[in-house]
Amino acid sequence: MQGQRAELEWRGGGVPVSVRFDDPYFSLENGLAETRHVFLDGNDLPARFRDGFSIAELGFGTGLNFLTAWAAWRAAGIAGAFHFTSFEAFPMARTDMEAALAAFPDLAPLAGALVDALGADGRAVFADATLHVVTGDARDTLPGWDGKAEAWFLDGFSPAKNPEMWGADLMADVARHTTPHGTAATYTAAGFVRRGLEAAGFSVLRAPGFGRKRHMTRAALT
Ligand SMILES: C[S@@+](CC[C@H](N)C(=O)[O-])C[C@H]1O[C@@H](n2cnc3c(N)ncnc32)[C@H](O)[C@@H]1O
Repeated sequence: MQGQRAELEWRGGGVPVSVRFDDPYFSLENGLAETRHVFLDGNDLPARFRDGFSIAELGFGTGLNFLTAWAAWRAAGIAGAFHFTSFEAFPMARTDMEAALAAFPDLAPLAGALVDALGADGRAVFADATLHVVTGDARDTLPGWDGKAEAWFLDGFSPAKNPEMWGADLMADVARHTTPHGTAATYTAAGFVRRGLEAAGFSVLRAPGFGRKRHMTRAALT
């Protein structure tokens, strides 16, 4: 993966925080449970998994969301493989990914496999999963993506600090790269994000958030 690297500082309990965006990569309290609640439950996964299922994400970060999906795929015992494409402008150094993912001992074997396999081209292929991390600003790279996702993980930093990851034009591109009846989920319930998803053609639902967050957003193409 090429491009500008992520610059990090570490806060209590080994949570990486982006210096550029002044925002943590995952929940300070329980990153894994939040990822499951927001991105898996928010997209009705693992219930919708089937061979060839396609997930896409805005913001690869540490790879935690990919690993959480991969662990859920394995636990569900689905034959075949799923595909995960993530759009990331500031890829993390391998050593930073390793340090961040050390906070999740349950994921250690998968995290080790990911860090070993992820090539400079952003690709990793496993028996039951393929990963492609597309480097560059998602506003530039997503329009040219030739794939479509059945489920989207919208995981930019907070909309107040990283508004470029939540704009109406980008949400329209997300919709254009979603299969009929496909879904999207995000931890934020910010009004302008919900309106952008609606304008893009999604039906949008405010759902209970994780932990102290009252609301999150679920969206589906009709
Ligand atoms: C909250 S973090 C993602 C956490 C990640 N999903 C994980 O599992 O660790 C947000 C990510 O969005 C990336 N990002 C911010 N602006 C971006 C942009 N314009 N295009 C692509 N990625 C961007 C950041 O570099 C960061 O990795």
